[in-house]
Amino acid sequence: MSVAAVLTAAGSGSRLGHVLPKALVPVRGEPLVVHAARRLLDARDGRGALVDALVVTAPADHLDAFVAALAPLDAGPGSGRVRVVVGGATRQASVAAGLAALGAGDASSDDTSSDDTSSADTSSDDTSSDDTVVLVHDAARPFVPPELVARVVAAVEAGHDAVVPGLPVTDTVKRVGPETTGAAPVVGTVERAELRAVQTPQGFRLGLLRRAHDEAARHAHDESLAATDDAGLVERLGATVVVVPGDERAAKITTARDLRVAELLGDA
Ligand code: CTP
Ligand code: MG
Repeated sequence: MSVAAVLTAAGSGSRLGHVLPKALVPVRGEPLVVHAARRLLDARDGRGALVDALVVTAPADHLDAFVAALAPLDAGPGSGRVRVVVGGATRQASVAAGLAALGAGDASSDDTSSDDTSSADTSSDDTSSDDTVVLVHDAARPFVPPELVARVVAAVEAGHDAVVPGLPVTDTVKRVGPETTGAAPVVGTVERAELRAVQTPQGFRLGLLRRAHDEAARHAHDESLAATDDAGLVERLGATVVVVPGDERAAKITTARDLRVAELLGDA
C-alpha cells in the first residue's frame, strides 16, 4: 500500500500564546512542524521509507515561512515528497484541505455510498479497492517516534481501516454535573481500565477518511462544532476504530508549560 500523510500545522496556538503560529515556534532549535515532518519522513519498515507524500497545512499568512522551513527536509534522495497547502478555519477544515490536496486518484471507490443508509457496514466493500493509507498527524506533537508512525501504518496494512495510538489514563476520571458556586457535583467515576488517551498519527484507509470528512463537512468551519479528532468522524460512520499502543514521546504541546517540558525532554 502507498502511504500519504497530512500534517496539520495551520493553527494559531492561542493557548500557547506565542507571537509565532504554534507550528513555527522553535523547540530544541527547530520549529515544531520541522520536527514532526522529519519524524514522519523518517518512519520506515523493512522495505524502506514509509511515507510517499506529505501535505502540510499552514496558515495562509505564513505560507512562505513554512515552505522555507520545510525545504531542507525535502532535498536530496527521496526528495519531492513534501507539499505545503493553506489550511482551514478549524483543524477539521485543515485536514479536509490536506485530503483534497492529496488528489482524487485513490478515492474512486468512495463516491457511491455517501447517502447509503447501510453505512454502518463500512468495513470492506467500499474501501477494498482503496489501496492508500493516510496518516493524519499534528505538528503540535513534534517528538512522535518514527516507530509509532510505523506501528500505525502496520496496523492499517494488517486490515484495520481506522487506527489510533492511545495510552492508558493514569488519573482517576470523574463525570460531573453543572458547577454551582465554583464546585461541581460528581455524577460518577469512570472505569479507568476502559479509557485510552488518544494521540496522533491516526491512520486510515484513504477512502474511508474522505467519506468521514465529506459527511461532516457542514460542521468544518465552526470551531464549536468541528471535530478535533479524525477517528471521531469515522466512528460517526459506524466504522470500527482500533487503538494500538501510543507513546509518551508523542505528547501534545498545548500550553507554554508543555513547550518548556518538550524543550527539556525532546525525544527522551
Ligand atoms: N490546526 C490546523 N488548522 C486549524 C487549527 C489547528 O491545522 N485551523 C492544527 C494545529 O496547527 C495543530 C493541530 O491542528 O498542529 C492540533 O490543534 P491545537 O493543538 O488545538 O493547535 P491550535 O489550534 O494551533 O492551538 P489553540 O487551540 O490553542 O489555538
Ligand atoms: Mg485548536
